[in-house]
Amino acid sequence: MKSSNIIAALLPLMCASASNAYLVQKVLDFNGVHKRPHAVTVGTLNLEKRDTAPAFQSLQDEWSAEVTSQDAARFEKSSVIAELCKKGDHNIETANQLFELQRECKTVMGTIHINDFVDPVIDLGALQSIIGDFVIENLPEVVRIQGQNLVSVGGTLKINGLTSLTSIHLPALHHFNALECTVAPTLTSLTLAPNISHAKRVTISDTSLVEINMLENSEDLELLNINNNRYMEHLRASVKRVHEQLSISSNSRELQVDFPDLQWANNVTVRDVLAASFPRLTSVNHSLEMIENDFDSFEVPLLESVGGTLGVILNSKLNHVDFGNVSVIHGGLMIANNSNIAKINFLPELKEIGGAIHFIGNFQETEFPKLRLVRGSALLQSTSSTFDCAKWTTPSGGNSIIRGGRIACTAGQRRKTARVNQDGKLLEHQETQFDSPAETQKETNLGSSIIDKTSLSAFAWSLSFGWIAALICLVATY
Ligand SMILES: *[C@@H]1O[C@H](CO)[C@@H](O)[C@H](O)[C@H]1NC(C)=O
Ligand SMILES: *[C@@H]1O[C@H](CO)[C@@H](O)[C@H](O)[C@H]1NC(C)=O
Ligand SMILES: *[C@@H]1O[C@H](CO)[C@@H](O)[C@H](O)[C@H]1NC(C)=O
Ligand SMILES: *[C@@H]1O[C@H](CO)[C@@H](O)[C@H](O)[C@H]1NC(C)=O
Ligand SMILES: *[C@@H]1O[C@H](CO)[C@@H](O)[C@H](O)[C@H]1NC(C)=O
Repeated sequence: MKSSNIIAALLPLMCASASNAYLVQKVLDFNGVHKRPHAVTVGTLNLEKRDTAPAFQSLQDEWSAEVTSQDAARFEKSSVIAELCKKGDHNIETANQLFELQRECKTVMGTIHINDFVDPVIDLGALQSIIGDFVIENLPEVVRIQGQNLVSVGGTLKINGLTSLTSIHLPALHHFNALECTVAPTLTSLTLAPNISHAKRVTISDTSLVEINMLENSEDLELLNINNNRYMEHLRASVKRVHEQLSISSNSRELQVDFPDLQWANNVTVRDVLAASFPRLTSVNHSLEMIENDFDSFEVPLLESVGGTLGVILNSKLNHVDFGNVSVIHGGLMIANNSNIAKINFLPELKEIGGAIHFIGNFQETEFPKLRLVRGSALLQSTSSTFDCAKWTTPSGGNSIIRGGRIACTAGQRRKTARVNQDGKLLEHQETQFDSPAETQKETNLGSSIIDKTSLSAFAWSLSFGWIAALICLVATY
């Protein structure tokens, strides 16, 4: 490394930003990289205007436009500043530090943390890639994050606790491991490259974004979690496989979610949406939960199997459900408090349930023409007195499809309970008439207390085992 190079490269670091443009020009000339004179005049760079005229924008665009990638490589190689780019951790506190970093490095080998940053704009300028994480956290002053040239973040792009942020403009960013955008309550604009192809985990929570449709080229995701975005009305993603979790909850109640290409997901939670479309979904490896949605129709015509629990809970308008191809549910089946579902007859192909059954609500009829085996128990609670419990508690032929030990069925004021052995042989059964509606209520409450709406795993657990214990208590009470 020539010492003249070192001086040329280090000088800008020690100088005020006002002279930076001039020094950049000098460094470039020194290395013989390019000759065209800069149009930017240092004196007119008004730092006070950065929130409207983004910091360093004109300067950087000019600069990065002229340095071709080949030139940039030569420039970096020949400069001692490359050492800066290799640093593992960069803690950036001012716009100046950031400006210097992007000027010296096309690629930052380590992680960038932006802390205590008081300027309104975070501008990544010419920076093209960050090998580690890029963390921007707890900065109440920042209104805009931009980087025309940022193409890749090797680790996580984390934006958290930016209470004045309105816009993220990273139009070339198409490669990142994870995007975590949380607690940016005024964020209304998020621009990434249209061709995001290498994204694994995306969490967007507590923003003011109205739509997300940036995931058109990601076929595989590990995680997609969209929650508490109060104004979000559209979410569309062309993802084909979700390896860990797909979770949509507590956004605008107008939200329409569209997953036209999704084939399988490890588990799926859809909550508080107005419409949900999964036309190609064929399997869910763990649980599938539809909770408190406002749709009147839900169709997954190609869904064949659910590896865990299938839950359809508190969808008050739902009246058309199509699970027409589901033949096996390996966990429990819970259909609870969907006040417009009069007939639980939308699983015509279902043959086997690996866990328990829990139906609660005002349904009048259940129909499972092909169901031959329920490995868990069965708890059915209908407020409708026309519901006929007998086909569950006293099956014709004396053998029940329920193998989990207990069957309890309430219809209006009458409750029937039965015990069965592991082969489904009926051991005993009992019938109780309630005197007051209060007692029915008591039972309903007990039943529902098994379900912790906020804890889905507890809910799944309760379907498999929890309610059995509760039922024993219940029986003991009477
Ligand atoms: C995605 O777009 C960026 C610029 O927006 C481009 O550099 C990159 O090559 C594109 N990648 C793919 C896979 O198309
Ligand atoms: C999703 O599936 C994983 C198993 O891969 C499990 O650990 C996790 O608890 C599931 N999440 C929900 C909400 O069911
Ligand atoms: C989920 O199920 C699909 C289809 O059965 C399978 O191909 C995939 O490997 C499973 N994924 C996980 C994470 O188990
Ligand atoms: C069930 O899925 C198969 C493909 O796996 C499809 O041909 C058939 O039409 C589906 N049935 C229904 C009722 O949608
Ligand atoms: C179901 O409805 C009953 C009666 O309105 C209520 O007490 C219970 O909390 C509800 N349970 C669930 C899981 O929504």
